[in-house]
Amino acid sequence: MNPPPPRLATAADAEAINAIYNHYVRTSTATFQVEDETTEERAGELRARPAHQPMTVLEAEDEVIGWGALSPFQSRCAYRDTVELTAYVRHDSHRRGHGRIIVQDLLARARSLGYHAIVAVSCEESVGMIRLLKSLGFAEAGCLRQVGRKFGRRLDVIYLQLLF
Ligand SMILES: CC(C)(COP(=O)(O)OP(=O)(O)OC[C@H]1O[C@@H](n2cnc3c(N)ncnc32)[C@H](O)[C@@H]1OP(=O)(O)O)[C@@H](O)C(=O)NCCC(=O)NCCS
Repeated sequence: MNPPPPRLATAADAEAINAIYNHYVRTSTATFQVEDETTEERAGELRARPAHQPMTVLEAEDEVIGWGALSPFQSRCAYRDTVELTAYVRHDSHRRGHGRIIVQDLLARARSLGYHAIVAVSCEESVGMIRLLKSLGFAEAGCLRQVGRKFGRRLDVIYLQLLF
């Protein structure tokens, strides 16, 4: 059965979102965060998120299986038509189409919110995300060499963007 479409996350989803996210904090370079996000931090973020910066969750069989967000790309006002997209799917549920559903839904939300430029900032090692975004029309817009360091490795960061 197809899962229901992604819905807006609430503070009650903080633990489920972090269970997915903190796996990548500890084990991967998908995020450059190195310490677990706490439930309090996430719940606070969710409470503070305005409607034009949605965080969404995808559920399968009543469990949160992935999440995504549109967040400010930069704080300066002239960046207001630009948003940064992120998505995370539970590590044991990859390659089942969940990431595509989450990102496509975020793109639809971004369009209806009036954003013009969608940016994703991805570690070079996040090949799944890079491939997924390119399949949805994102183009590589640049690479910052060796700006990250995690697990003793210097890491390049790739910028991808989609213009509406
Ligand atoms: C990136 C991520 C969200 C994709 O979610 P997913 O549910 O596994 O992706 P989907 O099943 O929807 O895959 C859609 C397409 O993306 C591409 N893709 C996804 N994972 C891939 C991988 N590991 N290698 C190559 N291509 C991949 C493929 O083109 C795939 O289509 P296909 O399966 O028909 O070939 C997921 O792998 C993830 O959470 N990764 C770790 C977190 C992360 O890197 N987040 C990005 C931070 S910016």
